[in-house]
Amino acid sequence: MKAALIEKNGGPEVLIYGDLPDPVAGPGQVVVDIHAASVNAADWKVRADEYGSSLEFPYVLGRDFSGIVSALGEGVDDFAIGDEVFGVCDVGQEGAYAEKIAMKAAIIARKPDGLSHMEAAALALTGLTATVSIEDTLKLQSGETILIQGGAGGVAGFAIELAKHIGAHVITTASAANHDYLRGLGADEIIDYNTQDFRQVVSNCDAVFDTVGDDVAMQSFAVLKPGGRAAFIASGFTAPESPRDDVQSLRPAVGRDREHLERIAELVSIGAVGIPPITEYPLSEAAAAHQVSEARHLRGKLVFRIR
Ligand SMILES: NC(=O)c1ccc[n+]([C@@H]2O[C@H](COP(=O)([O-])OP(=O)(O)OC[C@H]3O[C@@H](n4cnc5c(N)ncnc54)[C@H](OP(=O)(O)O)[C@@H]3O)[C@@H](O)[C@H]2O)c1
Repeated sequence: MKAALIEKNGGPEVLIYGDLPDPVAGPGQVVVDIHAASVNAADWKVRADEYGSSLEFPYVLGRDFSGIVSALGEGVDDFAIGDEVFGVCDVGQEGAYAEKIAMKAAIIARKPDGLSHMEAAALALTGLTATVSIEDTLKLQSGETILIQGGAGGVAGFAIELAKHIGAHVITTASAANHDYLRGLGADEIIDYNTQDFRQVVSNCDAVFDTVGDDVAMQSFAVLKPGGRAAFIASGFTAPESPRDDVQSLRPAVGRDREHLERIAELVSIGAVGIPPITEYPLSEAAAAHQVSEARHLRGKLVFRIR
């Protein structure tokens, strides 16, 4: 099979379009012929060795995908060959930048008929992260006010629509060029972080969802009301230490399971969440795709069309 692989850690140029043996389905696994896989920020962080993971080379990046089941491992009885599925690789597993992947069947889901493979791949990890963060971790309620940092990104876009669906008042941050887009998603207030310090204009929030990290994460505590809660997905594997003792600092536990993928499908089918803007690349241009993602000004999602 063809894959975008790396032989060493480094810059985008270490991504090579090459050949690897086809995977085989182990017990409880299916092989999926991947039609589309998305680029997530974690991919270039792993490539650049920001997480200090010890990889076995050649290594294939990529965490979410959509495709068609082409082989069944022992004990798999909930899928048949030919089923259209989408999903996110198990924790500790990657490899979606490839024509095929062997996956634990229990953590993938049927692709909704109304979604193309490109659309399903664009929604998988972003939707999983947003639903775990907004619904399970922050437990956002109707009538509450939430500040979502980095509104134009993939996870935040899903989160904005989900928060509006719940009935929250949504404030978000973005460059001016993205304000019309974010109004279209339903954001009630949009702050241009290039010209305005959000702490000057936002206060008394029930919740914060930070997808930006670093200084933005730490500054976000200031806008919470006493008893408020903040969730962080771009500040490492643990929540940052809060400078205040009257608010909660939370790190969403983004696991892998079929239920959250089915929740994504449900939210899309009822029209609560739409398809993000998709920038398409062929897998052979993975290095160029990483350069775009790493620049951190992409609106929506970058998706490889693989078949
Ligand atoms: N399971 C997990 O824990 C998990 C899963 C997915 C993602 N993540 C993390 O979540 C973060 C976001 O990922 P993503 O893929 O959704 O988005 P992304 O592609 O990393 O974000 C790009 C967006 O960030 C905006 N942005 C950049 N700097 C900003 C700032 N200072 N203030 C406000 N917005 C800013 C840009 O909008 P403008 O052009 O308007 O500036 C751009 O649209 C990443 O760090 C990723 O590693 C974690």
